[in-house]
Amino acid sequence: MKIAIIGTGNLGKSIAKGLVQEDTFESLYLTKRNIKALAGFTDQKGVIVTDNNIEAVKNTNILVFAVQPKQLTKILNEIKDELTKDHVLISTITGFSIQKIQELIGGHHTIIRAMPNTAIAVGKSMTCIASNTNDVASIAIAEAIFKTLGHTLHIEEHLMQAATVVCASGIAFWMRLIRATTQAAIQLGFDTKEAQELAMFTSQGAASLLIASGNHPEQEIDKVTTPKGCTIEGLNHMEHKGLSSSLIQGMVASFDKINTIKKEQI
Ligand SMILES: NC(=O)c1ccc[n+]([C@@H]2O[C@H](COP(=O)([O-])OP(=O)(O)OC[C@H]3O[C@@H](n4cnc5c(N)ncnc54)[C@H](OP(=O)(O)O)[C@@H]3O)[C@@H](O)[C@H]2O)c1
Repeated sequence: MKIAIIGTGNLGKSIAKGLVQEDTFESLYLTKRNIKALAGFTDQKGVIVTDNNIEAVKNTNILVFAVQPKQLTKILNEIKDELTKDHVLISTITGFSIQKIQELIGGHHTIIRAMPNTAIAVGKSMTCIASNTNDVASIAIAEAIFKTLGHTLHIEEHLMQAATVVCASGIAFWMRLIRATTQAAIQLGFDTKEAQELAMFTSQGAASLLIASGNHPEQEIDKVTTPKGCTIEGLNHMEHKGLSSSLIQGMVASFDKINTIKKEQI
């Protein structure tokens, strides 16, 4: 694969690190206006660091766009004449629909949107992917890139806003749950560091159990709730206080807000 990351900032660097670790490319162009910040990549086999987006587009066929939304239009105008039918465009840019990108570049190109979350920095992103093609090979390329950095799910583009709430904002929601668990653990006698350790690794274990078994959460809950025991006592107390309801309402409010922001941007 000949890949270019156009705009190698926080996200672009995480993607580049994943690709370098997996060693899956023939050449990897990393672009940025100030290339000093990419010095760490220059001695990697097959990696070319440049401030020239056109050179990167001409020498590759898979383009991953990772610039800020306000920078994308200018860059697409800059490179659109260099695009061929062999190019697959993968955009990570929030709020730019496939149709909008298509209108900016003209012609008919394979365009894929990828929505990773910040856990991409540690190779644990939940990345949703949508595309304007049924071309299995092109979708597989995008999946292969983001599978080096976590888990992927191919979704319809109209679900991208919902995916942003569940997966990107979701990181913040889960952080609050972990923080609350930490606070409770401190109240129960652990020091701050121990409390956070207990909270982090217990939540990681809970998710890992579901990933490994494919079970519904309630099946795992049944295994740790004895009749009249302490777990069911705690769970029911949390539900009386609105735990599930509060989470669902919060995520729906977040979804309503993201739709308002999108309308305001249009
Ligand atoms: N961070 C995440 O986890 C995450 C998750 C999901 C989606 N996203 C999306 O990913 C995009 C990038 O986010 P980020 O946090 O990585 O932003 P960032 O750190 O600001 O990276 C953007 C990079 O683009 C470069 N750039 C700007 N203009 C350029 C040009 N004309 N040619 C080449 N490079 C150029 C900038 O470097 P120079 O100024 O040196 O050119 C900068 O390093 C955003 O649209 C965001 O919505 C990010």
